[in-house]
Amino acid sequence: MKSALWLTVTCLSILLLAFYVISPFTPNAIADSVSQEQLAEIEQLWQGSTHALADINCSSCHQNQESKALIVKPTQESCVSCHEAEVETFLLGKHGIRLNEKLSPLTPAMANIPMKESALDKQMNCNTCHDVHSVNTVVAAVDSCLSCHNDPHSLNYEKSQHSKLFLAEGKLPRPSVESVTCATCHLPREERNEKVFVNHNNTYTLLPRDRMVKEVCMNCHGMEYSYNSIFDDELVETNFDRLPKLHLETIKLVRQFEKRREKQEAQD
Ligand code: HEC
Ligand code: HEC
Ligand code: HEC
Ligand code: HEC
Ligand code: HEC
Ligand code: HEC
Repeated sequence: MKSALWLTVTCLSILLLAFYVISPFTPNAIADSVSQEQLAEIEQLWQGSTHALADINCSSCHQNQESKALIVKPTQESCVSCHEAEVETFLLGKHGIRLNEKLSPLTPAMANIPMKESALDKQMNCNTCHDVHSVNTVVAAVDSCLSCHNDPHSLNYEKSQHSKLFLAEGKLPRPSVESVTCATCHLPREERNEKVFVNHNNTYTLLPRDRMVKEVCMNCHGMEYSYNSIFDDELVETNFDRLPKLHLETIKLVRQFEKRREKQEAQD
């Protein structure tokens, strides 16, 4: 098992190095990116990952399963065979839609909302939030988001009760009534074919705004509390750092929403 792994890693290293040596277009940055040092680092990240435990190895992603050709820099295509729902949903949201349209990846430089200066050129793909080699989802759930997002709502999250609960937990238990990360609200867990998956469409729970109430908040809070929170703009801006002050007539509101939606659907 161990020697088979080393054989794979060694073969891949040789192939990767050979590829870069013979490629006439190799910029220095890429040549550097496959130094022995970096390969060792990648191997180490992978060793500690859920993938290694599940026998998903270098060739699972770096080799075309039919032609057996080496893929030096795989894309989301390499994940589809095992994570179809994640890839499909990612490509439908704001984060992934440009890739779906065969455009260059989304970067913070293209944004209208505030973004971190240091991240302006960071490209959005499966490797952005959870490194494809470590597939660490705890880092992905908050820290990764805050490496780009820089608006008050995002920055305030770390002061919230939700954040304190997550920090105390230190992991992403499932199911959980206690951990609320950026991802809990924006990349919610859902069921498809009796299997829980993470809906990677980051636009989904925003449109319409009350979708988040049903899909997310009501897993833990009552309906009234949830509506009163989510329609309180100030509370959204501070990322839910206090009890809601609004006292919406919830049922009336829900009815209004449903009427509006029915009307919209009738028009479509
Ligand atoms: C889960 C799929 C997956 C597994 C398993 C995997 N890789 Fe990768 N690897 C990728 C993806 C995707 C990229 C491209 C990341 C990006 O967009 O920069 C990549 C990038 C790389 C790169 C950098 C290429 C470049 O041009 O910067 C190297 C080197 C590499 N992988 C080596 C390995 C080795 C060695 C293993 C096994 C120990 C491995 N990978 C396991 C998916 C995987
Ligand atoms: C050959 C199948 C296979 C391929 C290809 C594959 N994965 Fe996985 N992946 C798995 C399995 C199996 C697990 C662990 C069980 C589960 O949660 O489904 C997993 C788990 C994960 C997790 C969760 C890790 C955790 O600690 O909870 C992430 C994130 C992930 N994969 C991302 C990717 C990405 C990104 C790619 C493509 C670059 C990819 N995978 C390619 C099979 C695969
Ligand atoms: C915007 C950040 C982000 C991007 C981009 C991203 N992911 Fe994720 N992904 C997450 C987070 C956060 C979680 C864990 C959420 C949770 O468990 O509550 C996760 C979880 C997963 C899981 C584990 C699902 C499970 O049921 O345990 C898989 C598989 C996965 N991602 C695959 C992918 C693939 C494939 C891509 C590219 C198409 C991708 N991710 C791109 C943030 C991201
Ligand atoms: C590589 C930088 C980057 C990372 C990492 C990132 N985002 Fe984004 N995100 C963006 C950009 C750029 C936009 C588009 C903003 C715009 O158009 O003004 C965006 C948009 C969004 C939107 C608005 C979607 C819409 O339809 O309007 C949400 C919500 C969001 N991101 C949540 C998250 C969450 C949650 C995470 C972490 C799990 C995350 N993002 C990680 C760059 C990033
Ligand atoms: C408890 C749920 C919840 C948590 C946790 C949460 N958000 Fe949000 N987020 C919302 C709601 C609700 C909105 C929509 C407000 C609206 O419709 O105007 C929103 C809106 C956004 C937007 C879109 C802003 C815009 O103007 O387009 C971004 C980006 C975003 N959140 C990022 C994040 C990030 C990053 C984190 C973590 C650091 C996070 N959110 C944590 C509920 C949450
Ligand atoms: C996984 C469970 C869970 C989810 C999902 C969740 N919350 Fe919470 N929320 C909690 C817990 C636990 C607390 C802290 C104890 C309490 O105040 O009930 C909390 C606290 C709050 C508070 C009070 C904060 C304070 O400082 O007093 C507000 C407001 C809130 N949540 C709104 C929301 C909204 C809106 C959503 C959906 C967008 C949501 N929550 C989703 C579990 C959750």
